[in-house]
Amino acid sequence: MAESVFISNVLPAEARSLIPREWTVDYNETDIPLSKAELIRRLQGKEALVCHIISAIDEEVFAACPDLKVVANVAVGFNNVDVAAATRHGVIVTNTPDVLTETTADFAWALLMAAARRVVEADRYARAGEWKAWKWDLLWGADIHGKTLGVIGFGRIGRAVARRAGGFNMSILYHDALRADAAAEREFNATFVTKERLLADADFVTVHTNLTVETRHLIDEAALKRMKKTAVLVNAARGPIVDEAALVRALREGWIAGAGLDVFEDEPTIHPGLLPLPNVVLAPHIASASRDTRTGMAILAVRNCVAVLEGKPAITPVR
Ligand code: GLV
Repeated sequence: MAESVFISNVLPAEARSLIPREWTVDYNETDIPLSKAELIRRLQGKEALVCHIISAIDEEVFAACPDLKVVANVAVGFNNVDVAAATRHGVIVTNTPDVLTETTADFAWALLMAAARRVVEADRYARAGEWKAWKWDLLWGADIHGKTLGVIGFGRIGRAVARRAGGFNMSILYHDALRADAAAEREFNATFVTKERLLADADFVTVHTNLTVETRHLIDEAALKRMKKTAVLVNAARGPIVDEAALVRALREGWIAGAGLDVFEDEPTIHPGLLPLPNVVLAPHIASASRDTRTGMAILAVRNCVAVLEGKPAITPVR
């Protein structure tokens, strides 16, 4: 019997064309999330699933789909897949690291700069026809160059964000569950500190951890209160790492100066308290969304899926 793949949402042709022609492919070419029941129905008899973060792949799915051998998630984050359940059912889970590192780091910087220099507010002001005359104190923001960047989660993306800070002559503090080796600290000119020290000393705090039980609400009310009143928080990792209700209070009451967010606790819903606030830049989970990178992610996901079904090791299995 030919190998069979279910692609649960839209995927570029460049990636789909890498699936051998003789394999059976069921392709749901929309980006509307499938219900659990529909997902399970279409996964029946399939050995591979290529999915996006909008699909929750849990014990129920694995139990109902015994032919499944590989779940290829088209994202670096894989909190939508229950990896422990996959392992119990002998299913390999893969993600798409590396291909999106630089693009995601670019976007974290876009959020940081937009929030610090009030780019979105300025755009709204200009479009609304409010710009009647040059004004001395119009839309003053915060300097970025020469300030201190705090990177929480010093993996691939955190380091790529830190590398860019060199061009702005910034000092870099980082915190991670694991301290980087001395060579990496030298390369990035980064100093390992406790989370508390980082929060207290950084002018910009940017979060780049996976979402796990340990990192859920890593930035909570206490963390936000520890930050400088002039600080900016950036989250282009996963929404639930930040307690959104506490962040609303922090931005509203001036515990911190601003934030740039690409991710939210209950996507695609944004906490209603954030929407009227001028000091937060909001983006709809697009940090990896350049044409080249999204295509590269899709290609890597399909390559993972093909490798496993051909009996080879997955290229980027999650650990
Ligand atoms: C996107 O959010 C990703 O994890 O790749």
